[in-house]
Amino acid sequence: MSRDAAASCTTCRILLWALVALFALLALAAAIRFLPDRPVSYNDPVEHFKYGSTGGERNMGFPYWLWQVLPEVCPEMLPGKGYASLGFTFEQGRDLPVGMSQRRHLGIDRVFLNCAVCHTATVRTSPDAKPMLVAGMPANQLDLMGFQKFVEACVNDRRFTPAQVVPRIAEKAGNLGLLDKHVVYPLAVFLMKDGVAGLTGRLRFIHTQADWGPGRVDTFNSAKAIFGVPFEHLPQEELVGVSDFPAIWNQAKKQGMQLHWDGNNSRVEERNLSAAFGTGATPKLIDHAAIARIETWIATATPPAFGKSFPIDATRAARGKAIYAATCAACHGASGSDFSGKYVGKVTPIAEIGTDRGRLDSYTPQLAQNQGMLYAADPERRFRHFRKTFGYANAPLDGLWLRAPYLHNGSVPTLWDLLQPAAQRQKVFWRGNDLYDPQHVGFVAAEAPGLFRFDTAIPGNGNTGHEGAAYGTTLSDADKWALLEYLKTF
Ligand code: HEC
Ligand code: HEC
Repeated sequence: MSRDAAASCTTCRILLWALVALFALLALAAAIRFLPDRPVSYNDPVEHFKYGSTGGERNMGFPYWLWQVLPEVCPEMLPGKGYASLGFTFEQGRDLPVGMSQRRHLGIDRVFLNCAVCHTATVRTSPDAKPMLVAGMPANQLDLMGFQKFVEACVNDRRFTPAQVVPRIAEKAGNLGLLDKHVVYPLAVFLMKDGVAGLTGRLRFIHTQADWGPGRVDTFNSAKAIFGVPFEHLPQEELVGVSDFPAIWNQAKKQGMQLHWDGNNSRVEERNLSAAFGTGATPKLIDHAAIARIETWIATATPPAFGKSFPIDATRAARGKAIYAATCAACHGASGSDFSGKYVGKVTPIAEIGTDRGRLDSYTPQLAQNQGMLYAADPERRFRHFRKTFGYANAPLDGLWLRAPYLHNGSVPTLWDLLQPAAQRQKVFWRGNDLYDPQHVGFVAAEAPGLFRFDTAIPGNGNTGHEGAAYGTTLSDADKWALLEYLKTF
């Protein structure tokens, strides 16, 4: 070998090593940029409930900045200004609504819904009172179908392209790096189009339903979407199962009760795990420790007392207590905090309760069987308690005042209405108010801008049932007012 050749080979060796080092550095930089997978976390249990992650952003998470600019890309697709117009609640100084968590994942911040989005809302005690945020109550104002349709329409719109979206992000974010500007966010736009198309394809049944309005979701048809069921081939009667968001306090005392509106599951843990699917947390991605913290909190969380916001007439309530004990307690528990009672946590057959059957029929033996396979690889967590039932559950009534509108489909605006025979209940009323009506016990249901017109004639919205002597609708008016006064203590 000549001297020259040997020298050039040394050069090429140096070059080679330099290249290797460069690649290693790049790989390290990429790893530092793209590998971290950590949620924004909160020590306080209520903050964790409101903003903490269940792991689901890794699955369905919106890139943070796409979430932030979406309302600006398609402003006319929203009923008003920003996400608040869909009923999302924003606390002062927060950039994300209650019920949304954030995680660093794949090199960007991603956000998605958590439990609180459906299980937290506000109450105003007078038109100019400050809204009081109540964790654990039904999200009365959240229009989830409106939200799903907004995301679907905007992401499929001509304007949702990197050329239109990325400059908006750059403007909002202030300092978008070159990599973000030219690679990460353009790619995120396409990935989001793809992700949303997949999800909305599975949830396509919503386009065959009337608007749910705020505070409601079709729980178990959405669950069917997980299994990609062919909605086109399902019988008509199982296709409308719209239900009101429930309250989720006092879960420890509810262990063993048949709950969910139709009483299809008697284990708190399984109800929580199945709910987690709604937050994107599938068996592979779910953060069990984070769910356990929520479980611990809802085990003993209690509703705020009506009496702290409005007066209660103690004498009249005492009279109502006796009526309640004689008429209602066996099914709904001894009081708002003592849930003992012969039939509490059991199911009243549909023929007897006579409420709308849509939600009941939407849950099928086939779905129960499919749910049994969700955690098949995890014997400890595998769902064993989902059952097809034939009626609706006799549930405890804790925090009753905050659970309006009433019944599983939210078809009766106030407790006063529920104590009337169905023919005398309001056939049309307005949902989505957080202004409270302490007299009739419920939210103010008169027409007002921004509220949703709820029509009980639409399939799934029927307001019949829970009628007759056993349900208090034949009591005298004086007795009804007394019973109502007592129910304010729940
Ligand atoms: C998309 C809205 C939504 C999200 C998100 C959601 N839930 Fe729910 N949750 C509901 C609805 C609706 C029901 C009633 C289901 C039915 O019977 O139709 C329910 C029922 C429940 C129940 C049973 C209540 C009862 O007394 O019957 C519990 C407990 C619960 N959810 C906990 C959770 C937890 C924990 C999370 C987060 C992991 C969560 N939910 C996320 C909407 C939601
Ligand atoms: C035989 C058992 C039974 C009796 C007795 C009974 N209920 Fe109910 N109640 C139910 C069932 C079942 C439901 C759920 C029906 C549905 O949502 O379709 C219900 C629902 C309710 C709700 C709605 C809860 C919510 O969160 O929307 C209220 C309020 C209520 N009952 C109050 C009463 C009162 C007050 C009495 C006594 C005057 C009474 N019930 C008697 C079985 C009973």
